[in-house]
Amino acid sequence: MAMTRYQPPSTGLIHLWPLILFMVIIITPHQGGPPWQGASQAGGLQALACDLANAALRSAQTKATHAQSLIALLLQNATNSSDVRSLQICQSSNNEALSQLSSANNDFNTDSLDSMVELMNAAADVTKACLNEIQGRGHHFSLLAAVNADLIKLCEICIVSTRYFTIEDLY
Ligand SMILES: *[C@@H]1O[C@H](CO)[C@@H](O)[C@H](O)[C@H]1NC(C)=O
Ligand SMILES: *[C@@H]1O[C@H](CO)[C@@H](O)[C@H](O)[C@H]1NC(C)=O
Repeated sequence: MAMTRYQPPSTGLIHLWPLILFMVIIITPHQGGPPWQGASQAGGLQALACDLANAALRSAQTKATHAQSLIALLLQNATNSSDVRSLQICQSSNNEALSQLSSANNDFNTDSLDSMVELMNAAADVTKACLNEIQGRGHHFSLLAAVNADLIKLCEICIVSTRYFTIEDLY
């Protein structure tokens, strides 16, 4: 019963509020100039940005796993071929996203930030392909659409965070 209830797209991101707030704080002064130099020299911001990238990546993996089980359930329920086709596209997108996120996680642990960012971009792109298939296609797809939208946002948060640190900053 609980699974079918519609959840607004933002619900899943509530636990990320402190992290998102942090993003706003570091992004805003960056656009107007470099007033953060003092803090940057302290190294605290870089460590926070690294934590944020890591948290966003892990949350993205959790969302992708949630999407995977939802797609399987929706496929069992599908009653017509156009829904089956869309869900098959989502299933293959989701498989790709899961493997890209897992590789991104390995890259993060081996300090390859550039290739991690490429993989996060790729994961967001394949997830958008699924979202385009199901968006506006009915209430039965709304939870999957919300989970995918969250997943894309988390990839973006992770990518933006990597602009505020280099691996060298952390040692
Ligand atoms: C599948 O259909 C059943 C019965 O209508 C429903 O209870 C269940 O929530 C549906 N699953 C999904 C993921 O929509
Ligand atoms: C396919 O099934 C879904 C869910 O029952 C329904 O909302 C949708 O309108 C159907 N599409 C077609 C083309 O019959």
